[in-house]
Amino acid sequence: MIELGLGLGRTFDHLRRNLGDRAIYVFDRVNAAYPECQPDPALLFLGEIEETLPALHQSLAGKVVLANSDLGSFDRESNHRVADMSGRLLPSVMAPGGIIMSDLPLNLGGFEEVDLPPGAQQGCYYLYRRAG
Ligand SMILES: C[S@@+](CC[C@H](N)C(=O)[O-])C[C@H]1O[C@@H](n2cnc3c(N)ncnc32)[C@H](O)[C@@H]1O
Repeated sequence: MIELGLGLGRTFDHLRRNLGDRAIYVFDRVNAAYPECQPDPALLFLGEIEETLPALHQSLAGKVVLANSDLGSFDRESNHRVADMSGRLLPSVMAPGGIIMSDLPLNLGGFEEVDLPPGAQQGCYYLYRRAG
């Protein structure tokens, strides 16, 4: 699994608690996570995702079953940039049938958009499944 945007570690911690039997590769510029939400240092990749994620391409290609892209902010320009980046970098690492969750709408070739679960607020999060 992949967490793009560790931030304070809240979504990472949620994934770990609920799906903790799988390795979670975590990406951010800096580690600002709460002490109780710290990822495994061996799976934490600090720096610009544009550089850190492609550097792992050989080990991750086609293997990621779940990616959470949580890179949005109140900066509209930045949101365009990070959504474009996730749309470019995530598809090749995803396993067939793998799911991408995103706080921003993504343009993903070879993926279908999946309905949010009942009760989830439309337009706040987006789900995509890789074909195959
Ligand atoms: C909305 S916050 C993540 C919140 C986090 N998921 C949580 O539960 O606390 C977005 C994070 O993405 C990181 N980020 C945004 N663009 C990035 C990039 N290009 N490379 C690395 N980190 C980036 C920011 O540093 C920030 O910590």
